[in-house]
Amino acid sequence: MTAKCTKAFKLLNGKEIPAIGLGTWKATDEEVYNSVLFALKTGYRHIDTAAGYGNEVPIGKAIKDSGIARSEIFVTTKLWSIDHHDPEAALKASLERLGLDYVDLYLMHWPLALNPKGNHPAIPTKPDGTRDILLDWPFTKTWKLMEPLIEKGFTKALGVSNCTIEKLTTLFNENLKVKPVVNQVELHPYLPQHKLLDFAKKHGIILEAYSPLGSSDAPLLKDETIAKIAETYGVSSATIIISWAVWRGTVVLPKSVKESRIESNFEIVTLKDEDGEKLNNLVNERGGPQRFVSPPWNPFVVFDSSL
Ligand code: A2P
Repeated sequence: MTAKCTKAFKLLNGKEIPAIGLGTWKATDEEVYNSVLFALKTGYRHIDTAAGYGNEVPIGKAIKDSGIARSEIFVTTKLWSIDHHDPEAALKASLERLGLDYVDLYLMHWPLALNPKGNHPAIPTKPDGTRDILLDWPFTKTWKLMEPLIEKGFTKALGVSNCTIEKLTTLFNENLKVKPVVNQVELHPYLPQHKLLDFAKKHGIILEAYSPLGSSDAPLLKDETIAKIAETYGVSSATIIISWAVWRGTVVLPKSVKESRIESNFEIVTLKDEDGEKLNNLVNERGGPQRFVSPPWNPFVVFDSSL
């Protein structure tokens, strides 16, 4: 039996974050407007976007048109790498596009800065074709510039995305005024990142799972073991994967622009621990971790081996 997910996790700042949020990457403006509006009607109270997705305007419009009180909706957006030198201006611009006074969570999208004076407004490149990364601008410097954004009222909380244990450790060594409350990373049974999850739990940080079905084409849905577990519950593989994410204490952000999927992705089952463990161990049966989202950030190393 499935039930709409009402679970929320407590963040380090004392606020709650709904366990399931709508992912919005790779959706057109029209799709995203309709899916956010439909998701909010269905019961979702958590929407995840980013300046880098280019869809904050339709998302803000859908939130407004839903008629649901702002205080009831948890909105996350992210700082794009081109804006690491001025996160305050970037967040103000995001708020303007969203039509909101504040967001609930502001994340550093990637732990690296891109050249704001480069050859492209979003992803500048060097003559050799590699991305124009400011290798002498550490992401810890950006974090320091983000810290005042809470006191200034532009966001309720701050977090990071795409950070490994090594990057989080580097950040924690900086004598922080504000600790990240979440780390949003790719997480699914083929990339469970158990060590990172243990580390995050130890520090009171919530992990958020992006691309929980494996992103475009949802490759995890073809897995036989997952399908077999799903059959025993009489639900879809997607429901099992989303339920597993919540079972292990992570926020999960399934993306869909199809109403029936948006609806079913919000319905979870209570997994038996033995099934949760089976999913925890699946990565070993599949020959090791698989990452589906890995932009070419070389020579900067984003993902090391601390999976
Ligand atoms: P669509 O938006 O057309 O529904 P992820 O959340 O891992 O990024 O995966 C999203 C991909 O999986 C999208 O391409 C989405 O396509 C598809 N998807 C989302 N939910 C489901 C579902 N319940 N069943 C099948 N495919 C899904």
